[in-house]
Amino acid sequence: MKVLTLQGSPKKKGNTATALNWVEEELRSLGHTVEQVYLNSRNINGCLGCAKCKEKPGEVGCIQKDDALEILEKIVDADLTIFASPLYFWGVTSQLKAIIDRSWSLVTNYHTPEHSSLIENKRQALLLTGGGEFENNAEPTFTAFDRLVKFYKGKKAGELFLGSCKTPDTMDIKKKELAIEFAKKISGK
Ligand SMILES: Cc1cc2nc3c(=O)[nH]c(=O)nc-3n(C[C@H](O)[C@H](O)[C@H](O)COP(=O)(O)O)c2cc1C
Repeated sequence: MKVLTLQGSPKKKGNTATALNWVEEELRSLGHTVEQVYLNSRNINGCLGCAKCKEKPGEVGCIQKDDALEILEKIVDADLTIFASPLYFWGVTSQLKAIIDRSWSLVTNYHTPEHSSLIENKRQALLLTGGGEFENNAEPTFTAFDRLVKFYKGKKAGELFLGSCKTPDTMDIKKKELAIEFAKKISGK
């Protein structure tokens, strides 16, 4: 299986990177190919909401010629995309949100019988780290992700929230075990 991971933390060696590396390592050991895109180093503008992409439903037809196009093509090409982010104010980081907003280019005629998607039946998974616990904190992001998967006409492969992620030593063996379990689940093994 071809796996694409979107690393949404600005920190290259932070908690999200640690958790995502555990997941990627396990996926590779299960025989999958994994490519990571570190979003913070890429040039991704916000969506303009111009709907020009709707004029060519069969392609990623965004008028903004930045790095988002290449990343959206990678999402189309992958069997599974993992959206990884630290929780920033009860949501994902602006780096990840920008590519999510630009993924409007992948879907046409939402909320109509003609609803179509360039990633229909592809799988998506969510990996979040947060300084707090799940309750009264991470729920909105998980709800939004469920809706995003439906918008994509995709399939949710899995979701994981690692709470109490603060200093690097809080990324302990228990969290590693949860990350490995998550990787096995989304791998289908
Ligand atoms: C701007 C900012 C906003 C944050 N907002 C939240 C939040 O709403 N809920 C939470 O649990 N943690 C929050 N945190 C903590 C981070 O999500 C957490 O420490 C995370 O593991 C950091 O990951 P990183 O090292 O990959 O950046 C916030 C951190 C920052 C810097």
